[in-house]
This record gives sequence, structure tokens and C-alpha cells, in this order.
Amino acid sequence: MDISQIKKEFISLYGGDENDIRIFHSPGRVNLIGEHTDYNGGFVFPAALTMGTTIALRPNGKNVIRLKATDLPDLVDLDIDNLDDYRELWWGNYQAGVCLELQKSGYDIIGCDMLYDDTLPHGGGLSSSAAIEVCTALALATLSNEKNGKDAPDMIEMAFIGQSAEHNYCNVKCGIMDQFASANGKKNHAIFLDCKDITYKLIPLKMDGCKLVITNTNKKHSLASSKYNERRGECETGLEILKKSLPDIKCLGDVTVEMFEKVKSTVTDETVLKRITHVIYEDDRVLKSIEALESGNIELFGKLMNESHDSLRDLYEVTGIELDTLVEEARKIDGVLGSRMTGAGFGGSTVSIVKEEAIDEFCEKVTKNYTEKVGYAPTVLIDDIGDGGLEIL
Ligand code: GLA
Repeated sequence: MDISQIKKEFISLYGGDENDIRIFHSPGRVNLIGEHTDYNGGFVFPAALTMGTTIALRPNGKNVIRLKATDLPDLVDLDIDNLDDYRELWWGNYQAGVCLELQKSGYDIIGCDMLYDDTLPHGGGLSSSAAIEVCTALALATLSNEKNGKDAPDMIEMAFIGQSAEHNYCNVKCGIMDQFASANGKKNHAIFLDCKDITYKLIPLKMDGCKLVITNTNKKHSLASSKYNERRGECETGLEILKKSLPDIKCLGDVTVEMFEKVKSTVTDETVLKRITHVIYEDDRVLKSIEALESGNIELFGKLMNESHDSLRDLYEVTGIELDTLVEEARKIDGVLGSRMTGAGFGGSTVSIVKEEAIDEFCEKVTKNYTEKVGYAPTVLIDDIGDGGLEIL
């Protein structure tokens, strides 16, 4: 929906006129490389999309946050004094979790009427939940800071508020990548983020006649019910084993490929060895990718993306027939420089680098061959790289 439609719907739902409606937006993300490294203190390389969550809101003078989405029938009321009570909501729980985390961090939650418009596919692996969390945090923290005479909210803090909501309210022990990208993305740039100390560098995405093509498997994935938390546990086990021979390390992100090759024989559990091999080599691939992009070597970047997917398939084991089929079919097309899953896996989407002249063939052949093999169609999305969370004036 465009902003004027969102405002119209807001007025027909909550009344009043459009003068005092505020509009906030936060995007989803596509991760280009560096998967399942963030919660290991490693490197990631995501970019914000333009698709995401837009919120229209207006203070209502009550002790209630009223929530509605443009594509859902539910109207949800959150009592500001009892924000712990909404964990079981299937929609509205992220917002309640964010409000609670804001309160814990000293923000005043001001009663508001809110309308959400989401343009990301739910469960598409493009961080639709992070977009909701960051947008909610930004909107409500902005009102709180204005009331208390403070400056605009810090976007890194907003990312952490979103992540804490996910950990503490929704029980998904996610890393910081999605919320960070949603909060801090920049148009036409990807974010090279070191998750160990949250330092980052924006890298211009010069695609040299190529486009990023996202393809949604349309297989629904759920982080909580998937093996996400289990993978995280396996990495923690691996870290404890490595610490015996590398006592100075604090996370897998501290372990270089060279260090790992010397001590890996001490990891006797085959599954744990596979998981941490992925993480340590994936971290190295992110560094090589940045070098490749900075020197204009997009072919090498594509090759590293392919290696990343293969490692997620064989070592981290988070792909499945849907993601693997999309990647296999994409790679058969001349003009595809690289193709990999993006996000947590177990469904969700792939990202491919495709020469502009090959995009039509990509859409046609990947769609046809995937549908024949998997039984339903994927969705090909070509979005721009957009900005992180902001108030739209
Ligand atoms: C999900 C999580 C992120 C990250 C990715 C895998 O998107 O929310 O923190 O761990 O999976 O790279």
C-alpha cells in the first residue's frame, strides 16, 4: 500500500484526520554471505531491502497500544501495564515483546493506535519479524524520547531491543544480523558487520551489469520450531572443546582457519565438527568476499556465495530440497554468477547474482523446473537495496 492508502485505512479504523498521523518504516534484509556466523561472534554481510514494515500511528491518550495489520482481520489491544500477557498471540506478540523490552530499558510506552502494513512475504527468510520489531521499537522510542526531551533513538540500541524481544518473548535465540540490518541499512550498500564487537562498514554494492535476485521457496519456515536453537547449541559445544587447546578464544569468531586446522582433530563428535567447520570457513569467506567486491571481482564473490551454500547444505545441514533445487536450477543458467540460501534456512529464500540479460531466462527456467520438482511455484523478487529504519516525513 502507498502511504496515502495507509493513512486512509488508519482513519477509517481509528477516526480523526491525517494531520497527526506519524509514519515509520523499517525494511527486511537479504544476507549476501556469512550465514549462521552472527551468534558465533563472526562476520555477516547483509543489505536492507525496500520491502518491509510501515507503521502509521497516533497517540490515543489511553494506557493501551492498539494494533491492526492491513492484511489481517485481528484487532489487538495491549495493556501497557501488563505487557507480559501476550506471549501466546500469533500476531502482536513481537510488538508486545518490543514494548516490554523498551520498558525494561527505561522508555515510557505511550498509548497509541497503530496500523501495520507489511510488504515482505511472511516466513520468506527475509526478516519480516525483524522489520516489525525494529519499526515498533523506533516508533515507540521516538514518542518516548520526545516526551522526555531526548534526541532521536539510537538505531543500534533499537536493533538490540528487537533481538531481546525475539530472545525473551518469542524464545528464538537469534543473532543480531537481521535487526541490525533493518535498523542500520543504507541504500545501495551492504553492511560488513563484525558481530563480536558490533563494528561495521558500509560497502557500496557495485553490481557491474548484474542484479541481486531473491527467490522465495514458498516453503514456510519457522525459526522456533526449526533446528535453529539446536544448531546454536552445537556451536557452543564446539567452542568449549576448542577452548581446551585455544584457551584465549571467546567465540568461534576468534578462530581463524589456520588455528582451526591445527586443533580440529580434538573435536571427535562428527556433527559438532561439521557445524563449526562451516562457521569458521564461512567467516573466512566473508572476508574474501569483501576483498573481492572492493576490487571489483564480482565473479569471485559469486563463487564464494556458491561455496557458502554448499557448506550450509553439507556441513551445517540447514537447506532441504526446496532451497537446494532453487540453487541448482539457478546455477544451470549462463549469467548466474552465484546462488545461495539466505537467512536461517529450512525454507525461506535464495539470493543469486544474475547478469541483467539473463534475468528473464532465470525467472522462466527456475520457476518451471522448481515447480516440476517440488510441486508448487517459487516467487522471484527483484528488490532494491534500501535504507534502514526511519520516520517518513
Ligand atoms: C536468522 C537469524 C539471524 C542469523 C540467520 C542465519 O535470520 O535471525 O540472526 O543467525 O538466521 O545467518
